[in-house]
Amino acid sequence: MTRLISYFDVMSLLTLGALLPLLSYFLFSSYANALRTKNSTKREEIRSNLGITKEDGRKLKFVGLFHPYCNAGGGGERVLWAAVAHIQRTEPDMISVVYTGDTDATKEDIIKKAKSRFDVTLDPETLHFVFLNSRRLVEGSTWPYFTLLGQSLGSMVLGWEAMSKFIPDVFIDTMGYAFTFPIVSLFSVLSLGTFNVPIGAYVHYPIIHEDMVSRVKSRKQWHTNTGRIANSEMLSSGKILYYRFLLYYYSLSLRRTSFIMVNSSWTQNHVNAILNHSDWTFDLIHLLIPPLGLIKLFLGYEWFSKKNGDGQPKDAPSGSSSGRREARIVYPPVDPKEMVKFPLEGREKVILSLAQFRPEKDHPTQLGAFAKLLKAHPQYRTGKDSVKLVLIGGCRNAEDEARVDALKRLVGELGIEDKVEFILNAPYPDMLRWLSRSSIGLSTMVDEHFGINVVEFMVSGLITVAHASGGPLKDIILPYKGKRTGYHATTPESFAEVLHEALSLSSLSTEAEAEAKDEDIAIRERARESAMKRFSEEEFVKGWDENGWKGWF
Ligand SMILES: *[C@@H]1O[C@H](CO)[C@@H](O)[C@H](O)[C@H]1NC(C)=O
Ligand SMILES: *[C@@H]1O[C@H](CO)[C@@H](O)[C@H](O)[C@H]1NC(C)=O
Ligand SMILES: *[C@@H]1O[C@H](CO)[C@@H](O)[C@H](O)[C@H]1NC(C)=O
Repeated sequence: MTRLISYFDVMSLLTLGALLPLLSYFLFSSYANALRTKNSTKREEIRSNLGITKEDGRKLKFVGLFHPYCNAGGGGERVLWAAVAHIQRTEPDMISVVYTGDTDATKEDIIKKAKSRFDVTLDPETLHFVFLNSRRLVEGSTWPYFTLLGQSLGSMVLGWEAMSKFIPDVFIDTMGYAFTFPIVSLFSVLSLGTFNVPIGAYVHYPIIHEDMVSRVKSRKQWHTNTGRIANSEMLSSGKILYYRFLLYYYSLSLRRTSFIMVNSSWTQNHVNAILNHSDWTFDLIHLLIPPLGLIKLFLGYEWFSKKNGDGQPKDAPSGSSSGRREARIVYPPVDPKEMVKFPLEGREKVILSLAQFRPEKDHPTQLGAFAKLLKAHPQYRTGKDSVKLVLIGGCRNAEDEARVDALKRLVGELGIEDKVEFILNAPYPDMLRWLSRSSIGLSTMVDEHFGINVVEFMVSGLITVAHASGGPLKDIILPYKGKRTGYHATTPESFAEVLHEALSLSSLSTEAEAEAKDEDIAIRERARESAMKRFSEEEFVKGWDENGWKGWF
């Protein structure tokens, strides 16, 4: 009897062992089949929804943009709509599919708001919205404890909802939900059998970064000196472990991308560090626990994905050839809303420099030119024509500080202490205030690639004097309607000369010279108009094309 039972046991175990893989294979393949069927019906549905007839013979592509708060009207949304409008202009057969949780708004509402808030015109014909119902899962208030973890898991569910509603040809997250990437990969593998849905990201701010871990660590050290040692030790150790756990998976998820754009160098530094992040403790845990190991294997799987080998785009950013992705800076389009309102008249006699205190910005030339100007034209020293030089700039580290000290010594040597002001790490509103009242913008960097400060001078209505090279020469300070929009110079002498020329425009006060005074306002007007025309969007979309999605599919 006993033998019989054990015989059955063995048989049923064997059967189960054979059936389980079969069963799961069956489940998987039928789910994959359903996905594939859904893929084609959904594409047809969107096509007919948009009123694009099949007879057109247009071969449509679909870019999915994950932006659950697309109707919020903030800086992130500005980037999203600028990108969508650009895609619509340059890729007529590309349908932009925006995943959003704004279920209380209609397509028309969202398009209208993009127009009124950002002055971005969206074409309804190539724009489709996939509305998501589980957005509350990514809200901070849904997760009073372990908020980051809750939001991360929530974003995976939200990503799952998005993918089961529609799988695009390329997926771009523009809000920072990196934990959707494994889900996108999973759906890509299920329905295509490969990782061939390229994933991209535009990161404004990393959800977690290494500084957060080290900050808790340093606090922990500090806490050990206080009374409640054991208690706080355990708490902060737990917190460090929690952060490390999130960081580990955040890093793995970010590595699923084919391209990453970031909005600033700060974000770039952090995202690059996160891409490089490793943590052997968690590696070991994943090695020891097979299910976790499988997840790690899946997330770390990149040998056959499109970004290597044949799929490598011709114009791929150079950093990707090493196999490691690198975050690329694509500045958000300049938000000129404030600057463009600054009055052109009644400017103070201030020469403004906006540049980080880095060697390539060449501050010594600014000081030298200013000293020469005062020497050649003593009227600028005192009285009603008195001119001041204001240097605003970021000072990031000890080296920058040393440079500022050296510059201050130079100011002393040149004997212009009372005429020069240094303002370090000014907050944005302060910088705006200086832009609104200064008369002249000064930039001395040689071969500057772009020169956002020069654009800001121009949009703010300053008369700009910049080095005759690089972006400011070739792209920025160009004649507008055949007339001058600013000045160029090369040496301290020539800078002093054109500074005088620019200053004299507004110093003239007699009636005979009224015409010249008009020219002062006219230059400011032209500079503003031409900069607004070319730079509020242009540089952004160029970066978007070069570092972003073009060529990945
Ligand atoms: C969906 O269908 C289109 C067109 O048939 C195909 O090109 C695409 O690869 C499919 N995508 C997925 C995820 O199945
Ligand atoms: C980048 O995004 C962050 C978060 O929204 C913002 O604080 C920062 O000012 C942005 N940087 C730039 C250069 O726009
Ligand atoms: C990442 O690691 C590579 C190779 O170890 C190194 O060359 C690179 O500088 C690192 N990047 C960052 C941002 O730390």
